[in-house]
Amino acid sequence: MNKTLDPGYLGIKQELFRHLKVNKDAYKDSYLIRRIRARMRKLGISDYAEYYRIIRTNKKELDELLLTVAINVTEFFRDPVVWKTFERKVLPELIETKKNQRMSTIRIWSAACSTGQEPYSIAMTLHETLGDRLGGFRVSILATDIDREALAVAMRGEYPAEVVEKQIPRHMVAKYFVKVGDERYRVSPRIRNLIKFQQFNLFSTRYPRGFDVIFIRNVLIYIKREAQEEIFKKLYDSLEDHGYLILGKTETILGDSTRLFKLYDLVARIYKKNLEVKGYGKGFGGR
Ligand SMILES: C[S@@+](CC[C@H](N)C(=O)[O-])C[C@H]1O[C@@H](n2cnc3c(N)ncnc32)[C@H](O)[C@@H]1O
Repeated sequence: MNKTLDPGYLGIKQELFRHLKVNKDAYKDSYLIRRIRARMRKLGISDYAEYYRIIRTNKKELDELLLTVAINVTEFFRDPVVWKTFERKVLPELIETKKNQRMSTIRIWSAACSTGQEPYSIAMTLHETLGDRLGGFRVSILATDIDREALAVAMRGEYPAEVVEKQIPRHMVAKYFVKVGDERYRVSPRIRNLIKFQQFNLFSTRYPRGFDVIFIRNVLIYIKREAQEEIFKKLYDSLEDHGYLILGKTETILGDSTRLFKLYDLVARIYKKNLEVKGYGKGFGGR
């Protein structure tokens, strides 16, 4: 396929990957071309070679391009059916497992958290399900993204009033947000304090481990299948044996990685570890 691609485009791609610290094609060309072209249009440039020259000398533009590639579109409680399934099926089952194991921790990872709506939705759902004192569980949510600017928004935890009022049920807004001026809401400390935000690139070799649930939603669609497979192997190691993997509503596990997970809920795109291949995942996490 590379044969037909513009050399200027290939240069841009190489520069991007150098910056992202991946040495091979990780994002789909169709996706990258759309994002790069959007950036070029903004600058009134139609020639890849010219844009390539710019990003090589102008670090600020390269940063802009990186932000454009890592598009951050997200929502609170994006795809309601997923959150219903998480609340009514996954959480009760997980709590039962924890009780049987006499474990009092719940660890959840939001692995491409963008501006924070997903991890905050997780924290609110846990509060709603477990009650104000979280049923005696020690809950920790790790929220990561490659994009520092998105993370800065996430950490601030402040959102426009119209977004909050549209996307979050009214009784939860009253419970979990405080109004800041007329036009904004801030997430309340009891929700904010459950979450640790951190920059993390999904192409890293070492992944954090020990999670009961991993949300990795609406990011793999931009990534090529081979690179996705590497990510799935590492996610396998990051999940506890009883763990749940939650993908985006239009995403599926493809290729070799299908062996690693078992479908748990088709509509909500939730998977569980396939323990029959337990040995398979060992070592892929970069230990
Ligand atoms: C469309 S948002 C998804 C947000 C949220 N998970 C949701 O479903 O609403 C995709 C996020 O993936 C992040 N992303 C893209 N490439 C990444 C990478 N290599 N490592 C970590 N995050 C990445 C982007 O920065 C962006 O915030």
